[in-house]
Amino acid sequence: MYWLRKDRTNLVKVCVLAPWWQKDNVRYFNIVPMKKSSVFLSILFILSVFQINAQDKVRVNQLVIVANNPGTVIDKDIYGHFSEHLGACIYGGIWVGTDSKIPNTYGIRNDVLLALREIKVPNLRWPGGCFADTYHWKDGIGPKEKRTSIVNTNWGGITEDNSFGTHEFMKLTELLGCDAYINGNVGSGSVREMAEWIEYLTSDSENPMTKLRKENGRDKPWKLKYFAIGNENWGCGGNMTDEFYANTMRQYSTFLNDYADNKLYRVACGPSDYNFAWTETLMKDAGTRSMFQGLSIHYYSVVDGWGFKGSATKFDEREWFETMRLNLQMDNIIKGHAAIMDRYDPQKTKGLVIDEWGNWFNVEPGTNPGFLYQQNSMRDAVTAAIHLNIFNQHADRVKSANLAQMVNVLQSVILTKDDKMVLTPTYYVFRMFKVHQDAQLLNIDLRCEDYVNGSKKIQAISASASVDKEGKVHISLANLNPNKPVVLTCPVIGDTYKKVTGEILTSSEMNSFNSFETPDVVKPVTFNGFSMKEGILTITLPSKSVVVLELTK
Ligand code: AHR
Repeated sequence: MYWLRKDRTNLVKVCVLAPWWQKDNVRYFNIVPMKKSSVFLSILFILSVFQINAQDKVRVNQLVIVANNPGTVIDKDIYGHFSEHLGACIYGGIWVGTDSKIPNTYGIRNDVLLALREIKVPNLRWPGGCFADTYHWKDGIGPKEKRTSIVNTNWGGITEDNSFGTHEFMKLTELLGCDAYINGNVGSGSVREMAEWIEYLTSDSENPMTKLRKENGRDKPWKLKYFAIGNENWGCGGNMTDEFYANTMRQYSTFLNDYADNKLYRVACGPSDYNFAWTETLMKDAGTRSMFQGLSIHYYSVVDGWGFKGSATKFDEREWFETMRLNLQMDNIIKGHAAIMDRYDPQKTKGLVIDEWGNWFNVEPGTNPGFLYQQNSMRDAVTAAIHLNIFNQHADRVKSANLAQMVNVLQSVILTKDDKMVLTPTYYVFRMFKVHQDAQLLNIDLRCEDYVNGSKKIQAISASASVDKEGKVHISLANLNPNKPVVLTCPVIGDTYKKVTGEILTSSEMNSFNSFETPDVVKPVTFNGFSMKEGILTITLPSKSVVVLELTK
């Protein structure tokens, strides 16, 4: 369908629109100004050119949003976080102990708690990571002075006093108002140890574990939503083969009971990256039984591989581009694993749990290499937006995800130094995107120009949209190009919206970041770079930016 529209500035627009499902026919073109008299003949010519060569010759940036046909609910758990006993994530970053001068609640930093509440953390994974397969939970319960110290063999070889254990973690989740996600020890633990942990946490009957829990000051069982049966068992979690792990997982899972009204969502250790063989084995072997409800995936974006990684703040455009490109690959990774799951589980009863994702750069100079402490720049913000948009788009299969990690480790949302705290650009993306939590995904059709670097090119824009329970539509966008703004034409089909508001996160440099000295360099502000006319939004996305728009009826 074609039609003409003239706007106030006497611009004549030729609009070409077909139903959204006819992907290849959806186009919306903004044509050069013309005098009335010449419009008709010119239009005929232009249309014929477009018909033949629209795809190749005209690079329009267009996002069609279908607002009246909401789909899958975007599980809020896609916006989850991860806190490992690693570097200063738990000790110093979250936990300072009740005797600390740093203001705290039951030993948990108040500043960190308040900031995390703001982003509506839906679930929190603990205690690892690789640490999980060395962790023996009974070392971390009971009176603090009686707890055994342990050496964190994976991360820096430091001694931990176990003052942060099961009770402290469950208190943290209560204070955050989020669900707990505990990762069990398969690598160096036992079936009994894991089974007893679940009993200790969730049982309300008379038994030695509930007796012990009560002695330690907790009468009622906790609610425990997620429980992972090992972590990276193909690597730090025991160097197992896929068949060996599948059998082991079945054995462990058999003894992970649901007590009282607690219903465990058991997460089997899945592969990392493109290891589809592992997923195939897990799904083939155990997929048809109810041994697990979720399969985990880990994916880190590592520029030029583990040997290089690059700096979190001192990088050139090639490294920026590579980071974008690697982050976009999450889409293919999900598609690949989801296709295997679809064969064994077409009803999608099992979820993908992407419980470690993020950028992994070199540690900050002068810091312990085992602590994985890295700064966080505008680059991380754009890639967080890419990931969250991808997760939203795969909400039918991706049921949960956890950024690695929450505080002071890898792509953190928060950095701390003694009593100081700084919110990273990634933090603000989570704050902006929280509107998608438990909203319904909207169908979109995105056509956009490329962002080219050397001989490589990637899409310049990342997007997703949802409608919440109040009928508000949220559109989240990122411009991956650090050099060039993009003008996006966005027809919103199927409903009418009166009011549009927006927020933007951008910066002057591609490596701008927030430090303890200058904590407000990268911060969201009100966004006005759009106009809405007759159901069509025109949005100017500045270079290297993340934008969230809200449309109200
Ligand atoms: O997040 C850091 C580490 O990365 C985790 O401990 C491990 O699971 C992964 O390899």
